[in-house]
Amino acid sequence: MRKILVTNALPYANGPIHMGHLLGYIQADIWVRAMRSFGHDVTYVCADDAHGTAIMLRAEKDGVTAEAHIKSMQQEHQNDFAAFNISFDHYDSTHSSENKTRVEEIYLKNQQAGHISVRPVTQLFDPEKQMFLSDRFIKGTCPKCHTEDQYGDACESCGTTYNATELLSPRSTLSGATPIEKSSDHYFFKLPDFKNYLQQWTRDQGRLPVSIANKLDEWFEAGLSDWDISRDAPYFGFEIPNAPNKYFYVWVDAPIGYMASFENYIKTKRPELNFDDYWNKDSQNELYHFIGKDIVYFHALFWPAMLEGAGYRTPTALFVNGFLTVNGQKMSKSRGTFIKAATYNKHLNPEQLRYYFASKLSDKVEDSDLNLDDFIQKVNSDLVGKVINIASRCAKFINKDFNNTLSKQCAEPELLQHFIDAGEQIMQSYESREFSTAIRQIMALADKANQYIDEKKPWALAKQSDQEQHVHDICSVGINLFRQLMIYLQPVLPALAHEVQQFLKLEDFHFASRENILTNWEINTFTPLMQRVDKKAVDAMVDASKSSLTVAETPATKAVKKTAKPAVKTTPITDETIQIDDFFKVDLRVAKVLQANTVDGSDKLLQLTLDVGEPEPRNVFSGIRAQYSPEDLQGKLVVMVANLAPRKMRFGISNGMVLCAGDGIIISPATDAKPGDKVS
Ligand code: 2FM
Ligand code: ZN
Repeated sequence: MRKILVTNALPYANGPIHMGHLLGYIQADIWVRAMRSFGHDVTYVCADDAHGTAIMLRAEKDGVTAEAHIKSMQQEHQNDFAAFNISFDHYDSTHSSENKTRVEEIYLKNQQAGHISVRPVTQLFDPEKQMFLSDRFIKGTCPKCHTEDQYGDACESCGTTYNATELLSPRSTLSGATPIEKSSDHYFFKLPDFKNYLQQWTRDQGRLPVSIANKLDEWFEAGLSDWDISRDAPYFGFEIPNAPNKYFYVWVDAPIGYMASFENYIKTKRPELNFDDYWNKDSQNELYHFIGKDIVYFHALFWPAMLEGAGYRTPTALFVNGFLTVNGQKMSKSRGTFIKAATYNKHLNPEQLRYYFASKLSDKVEDSDLNLDDFIQKVNSDLVGKVINIASRCAKFINKDFNNTLSKQCAEPELLQHFIDAGEQIMQSYESREFSTAIRQIMALADKANQYIDEKKPWALAKQSDQEQHVHDICSVGINLFRQLMIYLQPVLPALAHEVQQFLKLEDFHFASRENILTNWEINTFTPLMQRVDKKAVDAMVDASKSSLTVAETPATKAVKKTAKPAVKTTPITDETIQIDDFFKVDLRVAKVLQANTVDGSDKLLQLTLDVGEPEPRNVFSGIRAQYSPEDLQGKLVVMVANLAPRKMRFGISNGMVLCAGDGIIISPATDAKPGDKVS
C-alpha cells in the first residue's frame, strides 16, 4: 500500500475563503479521495497561515489580540472547508508550539551548516508606530509623473517601479507620519548555496510541471539571491533563537506548518504513524503539495533548500494549479464575481461546484474559468439530466413493483463488464489529475446507460403483463450501471455518493467494489438526489456578493466626483519647445471604449478595452477611477497615444495612454469621429 502525505497551500488567517481558493482545495480533495478509493493510505493535512504584519494589524484594528483573531478566522475557514467536503484528516494553525519547535530546529540546523548570514538593511521606519514599513504601508507622490497617493513599490498611473525611499512626500499609511530611513540587522538564508542542488532538483523527473521548471530556469539564469528571513518587532510570528526582537518572516514558518500539522495529526489521531517515516531523508513515502502558480517560488526554491539544509526529505512533486476567472474575467467585487465560499454555500449546492471544477481541471498549469451560465447548463445536463436520471427512471419500478429488490439475475453481463473495464482508464485519469478527462469518460458511460434504457423502454414494457421479468431485469441493470457511475464520481461528489450508498444499502463504495454486481439485492426507496441549478439562485448569489461590499470597496458611481481632489493650480506652460517632427512621433488616434472595468486592488485605475480600428481591441489602464465610473465610459470616444511602448503594470500590460485634460477629464472628439482616426 502506498503511503502518501498531501497538503494544500495554507490560507492566510486574514480573509474569507473564496472561489479562487476553492479551485485548489477541491482539486486536491478530489485527488485525495480518488487515491483513497483506490486503496492507498493517504493523509491530507492543512492549517491556517497565521503570522505576519497584515494579520497583526488587522487584529489591532478590530481591537482583539492576534491570537483571538486567528482563532476565529480558523473556525470560519474550517466551516467553509467542511461545507465543500474538503476531507482534511487534520487542520491546524502555523501558530502552534509544534511548529515553533520545528521552525527553530530547521533554522538552527541551517545556521550550523553555514547557510545563514546577518547584515544591516536600511528601510523606511514609522517613528510613531515604531515599526518598519513594507512597501504596501507607504504612500507618496510618484517621483516620475508626480501622481499623488502611490504605493511604495510602483506607480499605478505611469507604471514606473521604484524603491519606497524614492517616493516624494512619503507617509506611513498606518499613522500618517513621515517615515524616516533606519537601518537594522537582518537574517538571510543563503539560497545561492543551493543553486546546483536546486537546478538538479527542479529538473528531476515528475517533480514539477515542465512549464514551471522552464520558468525556474529563467530565475536560475537571473541568479539567486540571499533570502531575507527576518522581520523586526513588532511582528506576529516566532522569535528567531538568539536574536532578540527579530522574528521569522511568515514564509519561513508557513511551509514548515505542513510538517507541524502532520505531527499534530499523528499525536492526536494516528499514533501508529511515525513522523520520521514521512520526513526522513530516505523516506519512501510520497509527499505532494498542491499549490497555486503564484507561490511556486517559495515551494520550488526556498522550501526544498531549507529542507535539504536541515537534512530532511523534500517533496516528491509539486502540483501547481492556475488562477480562477469568473465569467472570463478576474474575480471582481463590483461585478459580484468575488464570491465567498460562504455566499456560494448559502445559495447553491457545493457538490455542483466540485463537479464543475472537476470538468475543467487538468494537470496543466492553466487558468480555469467559472462561467456561470455554462455552470448551470453543465450541472443540469450532466448530473441531473444524465446521471441521476438513470436512477430515477429505474428505481421507481424496483420500489413500486418489485418489493425494493433487484432481479436475481444480471441480464447484461457484457454491458456491466464494459463499465467495469472502463474503470481502469478513469482511475488513470484521476491519478494523473486529468479530471476533465475522467469526467468525459464517466459521462460517455452515462450516455451509454441512458441509451440502454431508452432502447429497452421499461415504462412501455411495464404496461404489458407478460413483461414483468423483463422490466425487473432492465431496471436492475440500470441501477447497477448507476451504482458504477457513482463509484466513479465519488471523489468529485462525495456527499451525493454517500446518499447513493445509503439508497443502495451498500457498505463498500471503494473503486474496486464496482466489480460486485448487485443481484437479488434490497434497496431503499428512491428520493430525489439533487435539485437542478436555478438561474435565480445564481443571480441571487451574484447580487449578494455585490452587496457584501464594504463602503470602502464600493466602486465610483458618480460621473465626475467633484470632491475627489482639491483644485490644482494650472501648471505653467513649459519654455521648452519641440519641432513639428517631434510632435508627429506621437501617433494620436480616436478610440472607442468597448468596455470599462474597475481593477481589483487599485482605487486609481480603470481597465479600458479600446477599439482603435485595429483587428484586436487594446487593453489600456487609465488612472481615472476617481473621476469616472465604468458605466460612464461605455461607448465613449477618447483620444489615445497609440504608439506608446507597452507598459507592464501590476495588473497587466497597458497598450497605450488615454489623453486627459486637467485632473483626469477625458478628452473626447466630436461624435462623428471613427475609431482609428488620426488626431493631428
Ligand atoms: O499565498 C498564500 O496564501 C500563503 N498563505 C500560502 C502558504 S502555503 C505554505 F507554504 F504554507
Ligand atoms: Zn507615476
